[in-house]
Amino acid sequence: MKIRAAVLEEFGQPLAVQDVELAEPRSGEVLVRLHACGVCHTDMFTASGIDPSGYKPCVLGHEGAGVVEAVGDGVTSLAVGDHVVTLFSPECGDCVHCRSGKTNICVAIREQQNAGYLPDGTTRLSRDGEVLRHFMGCSTFAEATVMPEIALAKISPEAPLASASLFACGLSTGLGAAMYRARVEEGSTVVVFGLGMVGLGAVVGARLQNADRIIAVDLSEERLELARQHGATDTWIGGPDIVDRVLSETDGFGADFALEATGNVAVMRQAVEATRVGWGVACMTGVAGKGETLDIVPRYVITGRTVMGASFGGVKGRTQVPQLVDRYLAGDIDVDAFISHRLPLEDVIRGFDLMHHQDGIRTVLQLA
Ligand SMILES: NC(=O)c1ccc[n+]([C@@H]2O[C@H](COP(=O)([O-])OP(=O)(O)OC[C@H]3O[C@@H](n4cnc5c(N)ncnc54)[C@H](O)[C@@H]3O)[C@@H](O)[C@H]2O)c1
Ligand SMILES: [Zn+2]
Ligand SMILES: [Zn+2]
Repeated sequence: MKIRAAVLEEFGQPLAVQDVELAEPRSGEVLVRLHACGVCHTDMFTASGIDPSGYKPCVLGHEGAGVVEAVGDGVTSLAVGDHVVTLFSPECGDCVHCRSGKTNICVAIREQQNAGYLPDGTTRLSRDGEVLRHFMGCSTFAEATVMPEIALAKISPEAPLASASLFACGLSTGLGAAMYRARVEEGSTVVVFGLGMVGLGAVVGARLQNADRIIAVDLSEERLELARQHGATDTWIGGPDIVDRVLSETDGFGADFALEATGNVAVMRQAVEATRVGWGVACMTGVAGKGETLDIVPRYVITGRTVMGASFGGVKGRTQVPQLVDRYLAGDIDVDAFISHRLPLEDVIRGFDLMHHQDGIRTVLQLA
């Protein structure tokens, strides 16, 4: 079938929205009619050419939500009409990692996905006979996509799909970092560094875990205000004095949890140093630049702190994304407040511009 899609043709050049060919789903695959897709930093990062693992030509986008339109042979857990969120982080339930129960990093289709192919090593996307690759296994800047069954989370049909799309990446990453990876405890003091989609998700996650004090740190007053609306009890402008300030407000000990969502390694270090001697947990979600390292004085870990990180917030996509969406439907997460702009696919470049200028939290492309 022919679909409209935003193609990354050349690194550093604007995406080209055009007609491309999408083939039928094969065994274990699902055709999804996309309704909405969030615009995320990772899309812009790859489009810019800075991402060393980027490839082209490909259809970008990975924060999708839509409705199942057809299923390939052997697909048993999804049926036509099901509402789904796309998962760049799949959950097969059967690989050595999934079976361990210890991690959300499923290794079933990793190599092919990282290279832009579906699990059988081919693509369903093409243009005039030329192969187009699948970005992050998703390619959701498009009217439809074909994805592996194990990379789709079936969600409640009651959730508006624009809101549901935010659970495909940034929002779940922040929620999960607080709830599933760091496991913020009731009554604790939490510091969240960086208040983009990920950090705001972390603020909400800390609130849902019944943290007592949630200190939100960012450079933007506007984002601090948003954090307050979503549950932050304290809002501070970031800077070199933050660690001292956390210590001085916690009897010199530090916060129980620090959740980092900036991608800045100096802030990651602050997150470690702001956590409590004895049991503090510092969890990184930000993606640092190539070659950058996180400096930690060993004394910080010897004296009982835990330093960890999470991909997709440690969220097991097929199991836990539907649960998080249910919490949204129950009124626990004000997802709609995060959608700052709604644009047609043709305006995807404007979505990048808005993100570049930190205008709003999330632009969602309306695809149907
Ligand atoms: N681990 C994952 O699976 C995953 C998934 C999605 C995004 N990410 C990463 O998470 C990070 C955050 O993503 P986002 O979409 O929320 O980004 P964003 O750019 O919207 O937010 C980052 C925030 O950090 C703030 N900031 C910058 N310097 C700061 C400082 N010194 N102190 C305090 N705050 C500071 C900025 O003002 C901004 O509000 C990025 O690095 C992104 O690549 C990781
Ligand atoms: Zn993303
Ligand atoms: Zn797996």
